[in-house]
Amino acid sequence: MCGIVGYIGSKEAAEILLDGLRRLEYRGYDSSGLAILDASSTLHVSKAVGRLSELEAKLEAGPLHGTRGIGHTRWATHGEPSERNAHPHMDESGSLAVVHNGIIENYQELKAELQQQDCTFQSDTDTEVLPHLIAREQAQGASTLLEAVRKALSKARGAYALGVISKDDPDTIYAARLGSPLVIGVGEGEYFIASDVPAVVSRIQKVIYLKDGEVAALTPDGVKVYTLAGDEVPVTLSDVTIRAEDAEKAGFETFMLKEIHEQPRILRNLLRKHTLDGRVNLAIDGLSNDYFRKLNRVMIISCGTAYHAGMYGKLLMEHVCNIAVEVDLASEFRYRDPKVDPGTLIIPVSQSGETADTLASIRMARAWGCKVLSICNVQDSSLVRDSDAVLYTEAGPEIGVASTKAYTAQLMAFVLLTLAMGRARNEITPEVETELLEDLAQIPDAIHYVIDRKDDINQIAEKHHDGPSSLYLGRKFNYPTALEGALKNKEISYQHAEGYAAGEMKHGPIALINEYLPVICICTRTRDEVYEKMISNMKEVEARHGRLIAVATDGDTAVKAFAEDIMYVPAIRDEFSPMVNVVALQLLAYYAAQARGTDIDKPRNLAKSVTVE
Ligand code: F6R
Repeated sequence: MCGIVGYIGSKEAAEILLDGLRRLEYRGYDSSGLAILDASSTLHVSKAVGRLSELEAKLEAGPLHGTRGIGHTRWATHGEPSERNAHPHMDESGSLAVVHNGIIENYQELKAELQQQDCTFQSDTDTEVLPHLIAREQAQGASTLLEAVRKALSKARGAYALGVISKDDPDTIYAARLGSPLVIGVGEGEYFIASDVPAVVSRIQKVIYLKDGEVAALTPDGVKVYTLAGDEVPVTLSDVTIRAEDAEKAGFETFMLKEIHEQPRILRNLLRKHTLDGRVNLAIDGLSNDYFRKLNRVMIISCGTAYHAGMYGKLLMEHVCNIAVEVDLASEFRYRDPKVDPGTLIIPVSQSGETADTLASIRMARAWGCKVLSICNVQDSSLVRDSDAVLYTEAGPEIGVASTKAYTAQLMAFVLLTLAMGRARNEITPEVETELLEDLAQIPDAIHYVIDRKDDINQIAEKHHDGPSSLYLGRKFNYPTALEGALKNKEISYQHAEGYAAGEMKHGPIALINEYLPVICICTRTRDEVYEKMISNMKEVEARHGRLIAVATDGDTAVKAFAEDIMYVPAIRDEFSPMVNVVALQLLAYYAAQARGTDIDKPRNLAKSVTVE
């Protein structure tokens, strides 16, 4: 959580930092702040509670001038959202300021030590120990600010990405990371720090991915990187792989709506990249066909929406690859006693690659000798660096807090991986593989078809948005779709929604059904008995006067007989239908949220990546 940004160059820093924070606001938005060094090396700090617009208004009334600065947008962990707890935090003399993303786990211990030395704290945050520790190191004889920063960080346990600015060293800003994301952007005669590349993408030519345990010194002339022990390490300049327009709304009213519309293109590109002549062409560096052949178990680990993708992955892999697959929430996995051994492949799924529970889980699994193959969206994320192999979802930056395009890309990644694994294990013939790929190729157009009917979905949402609750039902491949549809609705419209396996309805939730409850049933036509079972479930809802909304296959007249409203999707092979059906539910949640007047891209209390437990 939290976004940090920093600038050093020859331009006015405040506007550049605000622009960066605007793009990072998805990471947290309960308060924000800037620290700017002016031409006479005086440090000025401005902070505001609430959305970034509050800080913007404050800076309009009292502008800060200077060409070096750091900024922060906060998602509160330690200490309520307040100006006092907003970053940047300063040392007692007001000479240096720090912005921080992460958690200093031993801050209470450090704070007690500092208080014993009569240090006065202004906030309730864990972060504030850092400026005081740096200042103490300076007072105790550190010869440079770099040395003071290194020594202070050597005392901190936990996770951090941070920016430091000080009037004692006005031509340098410092950055450091351990377990929290941070990049250094390289422009022309100007340098940036940021929690992610999109925050500064339009201003930079190259990027430096700082490694854990490194400290960087940025001056207008260049960047030097050091270990915490003080040894200089070579700097690697990487290409910027995302486009500036990926970080813009491109005419859409929200990032979420833009990202929903991007799904056909993303899935088409993934398919193009990983297929050739009717076969899957997925080379997974680090894991051979022989490894897949000998594998005896797969364990998928993830959180939230990515967990729903994992549930789908399990169903598909078991169906195609004849292998035992388990799926678990990372926050549960890490505290239970899972029976995994080196014959188990661990597949973490994560958009950000920074989710704390997912990272902790795979570190445990690696210690038990398992190989880790990640499905991830963000290059050079912590997850990617901790994995033996990676299958990128290549969905581009996902900025709307509610995940949409990353989810369907995760589903597609599971399909491709399953086909590759199925072939390696001789579980599918080339003919079946080609047939499956032909069906898969229809998915992008099928999603387009759903998006083209968004006005119909909008009308359905308008009609049903105002109740206190709704129920989402699905079976087999679309059970995860029901969970995901309910999650989307909860997150952005704040309407309680519950996803359930339709067959479980009689075991409890049926008691909820009355003439006010919208019940969303995913009832696309299938080749197996699941469709008939869904029809029975829908009849049970109808008999109790529930308000039935169906996701159904175009032309299905049976559903028409009893559903109050229908979101139609094209006929798609059962196994792949979740990629299409979920788009109808994303749009349903979207328009319900719009009707309820919520802040769709930044729903209350949420942050895009959950980098703390
Ligand atoms: C829901 C959502 C979250 C994330 C979850 C995992 O819309 O975005 O539930 O899916 O926090 O995040 P990643 O995928 O970054 O590990």
